[in-house]
Amino acid sequence: MNRRKETTMSAYQDAFDFAATEPELFWKQQAQSISWFRFPETILSNDEHGIERWFADGELNTAYLALDYHVDNGRGDQTALIYDSPVTGKKARYSYRVLRDQVAKTAGMLASLGVEKGDRVVIYMPMIPEAAMAMLACARLGAIHSVVFGGFAPSELAVRIEDAEPKVVLTASCGVEVSKVIPYKPLVDQAVMDSRWKPDSVVVFQRKECLADLNQARDIDWVTLFNRSAPHDCVPVKATDPLYILYTSGTTGKPKGVVRDNGGHAVAMKYSMESIYNVKPGEVYWAASDIGWVVGHSYIVYAPLIHGCTTIMYEGKPVKTPDPAAFWRVCEEYGVSILFSAPTAFRAIKKEDPEGALLTAFPMKKLRTIFMAGERLDPPTLEWVETKTQRPVVDHWWQTETGWAIAGNPLGLETFDLKPGSATKAIPGYQVEVLNELGEQQAMNEQGYIAIKRPLPPSCLPTVWRNHDRFESGYLSQFPGYYVSGDGGYIDEDGYLFVMGRIDDVINVAGHRLSTGEMEEVVGAHEAVAECAVIGIHDDLKGQLPLGLVVLKDGYVSENGAIEAELLQQVRAKIGAVACFKRALIVDRLPKTRSGKILRRVIRQIADGEQYVVPSTIDDPSSLNEIEKALY
Ligand code: COA
Ligand code: AMP
Repeated sequence: MNRRKETTMSAYQDAFDFAATEPELFWKQQAQSISWFRFPETILSNDEHGIERWFADGELNTAYLALDYHVDNGRGDQTALIYDSPVTGKKARYSYRVLRDQVAKTAGMLASLGVEKGDRVVIYMPMIPEAAMAMLACARLGAIHSVVFGGFAPSELAVRIEDAEPKVVLTASCGVEVSKVIPYKPLVDQAVMDSRWKPDSVVVFQRKECLADLNQARDIDWVTLFNRSAPHDCVPVKATDPLYILYTSGTTGKPKGVVRDNGGHAVAMKYSMESIYNVKPGEVYWAASDIGWVVGHSYIVYAPLIHGCTTIMYEGKPVKTPDPAAFWRVCEEYGVSILFSAPTAFRAIKKEDPEGALLTAFPMKKLRTIFMAGERLDPPTLEWVETKTQRPVVDHWWQTETGWAIAGNPLGLETFDLKPGSATKAIPGYQVEVLNELGEQQAMNEQGYIAIKRPLPPSCLPTVWRNHDRFESGYLSQFPGYYVSGDGGYIDEDGYLFVMGRIDDVINVAGHRLSTGEMEEVVGAHEAVAECAVIGIHDDLKGQLPLGLVVLKDGYVSENGAIEAELLQQVRAKIGAVACFKRALIVDRLPKTRSGKILRRVIRQIADGEQYVVPSTIDDPSSLNEIEKALY
């Protein structure tokens, strides 16, 4: 990694100051760490909307960086990807050369279906190697992938198909969960039926756990098409061309299509592997997540491969596949150096093996550090993991929108002492500030809106897919000159950032980001519901769980909880099992302000058993007693 000559005693501070004061020079130096087809002359510029763009005239190909570059530079025989699937009993290894060849043929398969640079491809697949190959094949063609998490229901998939307008949908016949096989093809058929946009082709990878009926004219068998496809070369793209769209929950029912560009993303991925994870090419890096989430995009697929590491696709859970030693077994078996997962995964392990008794069988000699993200790392989980594994645990904070950590302990630069509950410091490139309602900087230790001063560093979203206004209004217009993260928190006297939770209607269930607004739309659409509120309440395992409070229309009565059961079923059917919407309570009224705003924060505090202050603006204080009665 290049650094400027003038240095202080702190490598972190040097890098941080350099990136803040001379972002173009700093990122130009980082850009030299990857192999461009055309190195950018313009490092930072503005697009037609006045949004900062990185490396605008650079040309590259992300799949080339992830695969061909390594084959051409002596890593062809190194394992690029390990597939470990306790739910099916399968294991496989792919060298960089084999993976490159498979991806080139997968790209050829897509090209034979007419997919070209700029076309969209929706990927709705379980955690199998073909899913990663599909993503990389799109990147190879310059096509834009949009991966949809398998736990989402057909209507969620339909919304994404309608917005992304893919030429092709790639899927598998089924996903395999802990104790059930979930056929995907009927879900895809339903989604295509519900969507106004129809893809030309649906390519299905048949798994032996459940074969799909290829009964639509657009259906194609993956393996048959793959076998007759010719390998396709890497297509050069502009740094600012989109690599992917990843939909994430916002405050309304419609998810936001976060756009990630090729150049900034590749540079940030590479930089993060060195500066944050402190991992070397050739080492084994395991993000125990799912490719449906941003963690899976960045740290199962792109960053480890761009960096020349071995990555692991694990099709299983931290527990029950078959037991709470699953993570330790994988770390031991493959010599994992860096493990990255969500705190909820470790809470699940802790619940089933509180003493960490199963750990003793796995020395995990190569495991150096455990990283966590997706939700706040609660101090008891931090302490448990540190004590039981005897490894440093690093919390780092980031979002789908950024694609990499905004704050963390940048081990490749400097190791800071931990403060439980804090994500440590802003990563070089991010200028994180805590602002009050007026957009002024909060005093130290005062909570407020966590915002990032522009320019945002490479990889951060430049827009929302086909809805630029939503990008401006949702992130940029509240505080001019800043990006608003949607999280609240504070910075302490040592510059440590404490992220305390969302300040909007987004909740975090088992590390999965979900919109309560969207759940309210589903619940509110039930014919018996007059009004409702869905809030996220504390859960020891999953961090948060949604709770619905429902007021029925006059004349409706729920016999033996029938309406509540219907509401749970509807959220499951419309959003998916992943929403974990398992509790709806009927109340006579909802606590509101005199102007009619539902007092969600107070309801949440009551549900979590926290102290609360009755707001002076409340319309009828006795409505709070009703909530207490319904809950306890
Ligand atoms: N396809 C289909 N269904 C899925 C799915 C997928 N890919 N992933 C989850 N589901 C279903 C589950 O089967 C479950 O359904 P159920 O209600 O019928 O039981 C539901 O969605 C909820 O799943 P999940 O949140 O995974 O809960 P769980 O109880 O099965 O497991 C944990 C709990 C904590 C073990 C699990 O959530 C976990 O490992 N989390 C890690 C977090 C993570 O990877 N976060 C990503 C960011 S780092
Ligand atoms: P996602 O876009 O799905 O990655 O979710 C991003 C959101 O998850 C953030 O805005 C936070 O609310 C939360 N989050 C992620 N990582 C952390 C963390 N380390 N600490 C606190 N919250 C986190």
